[in-house]
Amino acid sequence: RLKVGVLISGRGSNLQALLDAASDSAFPAEIVLVLSNVPGAAGLERAENAGVPTATINHRDFQGRQSFDRAVTSALEAAGVEFVCLAGFMRLVTQEFVEHWHNRMINIHPALLPLFPGLDTHQRALDEGCKLHGCTVHFVRHEMDSGPIVGQAAVPVLPGDTESSLAQRVLLAEHRLYPECLRLIASGEASIKGDVFTLPATPPETLLIS
Ligand code: GAR
Repeated sequence: RLKVGVLISGRGSNLQALLDAASDSAFPAEIVLVLSNVPGAAGLERAENAGVPTATINHRDFQGRQSFDRAVTSALEAAGVEFVCLAGFMRLVTQEFVEHWHNRMINIHPALLPLFPGLDTHQRALDEGCKLHGCTVHFVRHEMDSGPIVGQAAVPVLPGDTESSLAQRVLLAEHRLYPECLRLIASGEASIKGDVFTLPATPPETLLIS
């Protein structure tokens, strides 16, 4: 099974979805380390409950992004990590880090990229009057929230939606999408060469509209 490290900063509900998927021995990836940059992040307890090793590397203990990122890579590699999933990891990473994990690192973003990179995605989708919104799993490139798209799940924006009701609907889609995308990659059904990501001829439905 592909050895995966998950980077988090907070709640860890996407981490939970990955842990749940990987608890099935037939899933082609196993989570060997959960690393948080925030001490006491709720997601760390989720990992502990699943019997997965955790680490905390507080970015505030470092002078700059480069030394922090190098410490993260060292911890991941010491744990045997081959592939990285960012799951609510709220730090910008350095070019060096992105290059080190080139095509070996994916992220989940709560919008249908390339719409709404950055923060406040749900409010921005509401403000624009979007009728569809959703989430994206993508390989990480240096430019924030960019990179080859692995999968997307779309949800409707309903009349009367608030930021939190929309966020909740998207989050449920995230929890379906992220494990499925990791499964596709780890199983070898999908592959990336350079910037070209290739899905199986008949992609699973979770990659389209939920
Ligand atoms: C998720 O909605 C994820 O898509 C988003 O943060 C949330 C983390 O929730 N990520 C980003 O905004 C990345 N820029 P979680 O900790 O419960 O998985």
